[in-house]
Amino acid sequence: MTIRSVIRGVGSYLPANIVTNEELTKTVDTSDEWIQERTGIKQRHVAADGETTSDLAIAAGRQALERAGLKGEDIDLFVVATATPDHTFPATAAKVQAAFGRRGVPSFDVQAVCSGFVYGLSVVDNFMRCGQVKSALFIGAETFSRILDWEDRATCVLFGDGAGAVALTAEQGAGTTVDRGVLSTHLHSDGNQHDLLYVDGGASSTQTTGYVRMEGREVFRHAVVNLADTVKEAIAANDLTIEEVDWLVPHQANKRILDSTAKKLRIPNDKVIVTVDRHANTSAASIPLALAAGVDDGRIKPGHLVLMEAMGGGFTWGSALVRM
Ligand code: ACO
Repeated sequence: MTIRSVIRGVGSYLPANIVTNEELTKTVDTSDEWIQERTGIKQRHVAADGETTSDLAIAAGRQALERAGLKGEDIDLFVVATATPDHTFPATAAKVQAAFGRRGVPSFDVQAVCSGFVYGLSVVDNFMRCGQVKSALFIGAETFSRILDWEDRATCVLFGDGAGAVALTAEQGAGTTVDRGVLSTHLHSDGNQHDLLYVDGGASSTQTTGYVRMEGREVFRHAVVNLADTVKEAIAANDLTIEEVDWLVPHQANKRILDSTAKKLRIPNDKVIVTVDRHANTSAASIPLALAAGVDDGRIKPGHLVLMEAMGGGFTWGSALVRM
């Protein structure tokens, strides 16, 4: 027997304001054709003035809890994965915890940029497996629009705002891959690649928030290799085959990265959940938003085997294999 972290409910929230590629052409030298061809992105959601990462997180978290049939008072742990917190401190998770009327239990943020969801899921899973908590609300939430240089066409067209959440409870499993819940997580980083994707500001360096800077081609090259490797290790660690995976739910960076990774892994496109066209890259929020999209439209069903993978600044990368 083993403890499994089972996803009981999935929630999502996207700001009402949609910005199309066509609208971006009014402020930067770009075109709908260029953006769609290079990235697959058609539009992104952008938070309203005054709408914060915690607002998005709370809305997604509320839906996940409702769908799980849980209340704030049932939750033992609040974790938010974000690179765009409301404040340098306290953690955005503390605001989320307060919004759900809970006191005393731990709350903290996880920072692994676009890999934040797989990193955070791993942290939550380890808390559950060692018996420290029996339930958790885990949210990926971002307002990347706040750290974009809207005059830099190489980056501002790529990102969007949003939040996705999962409510989890600890359950006894048989210790096999038939169990519901997180079966394994696999995390990596290489800080030597720090300067290929970063924000050029920070509390201790510039005392400003800074803007996203990126060597797009280099990121692309590393992404396909690292993502395919971490998917393979998740499959091997569970003694499964790639054919047994029902859904690949990747971090939604770029349609070309999704396609190249799926091709390298021989995963058919109709087994890949894609939301990058509608959401753009929402960093730590992109996997739970894609998961919610797949659950909401009935593709992802209880019992399905879902493989999540992500790569982001650091570099960080990793995967998580979950039976829904
Ligand atoms: N509109 C029009 N032209 C553009 C734009 C734009 N928005 N952005 C760049 N260009 C131009 C460049 O200036 C360049 O022009 P030049 O040839 O005259 O110098 C030309 O397009 C080609 O630029 P590249 O950067 O070489 O274009 P590339 O084909 O590599 O595509 C892209 C750029 C889409 C960023 C690609 O490199 C990519 O997808 N990289 C992955 C990065 C990514 O997804 N990052 C997200 C965060 S990381 C993550 O989540 C994994």
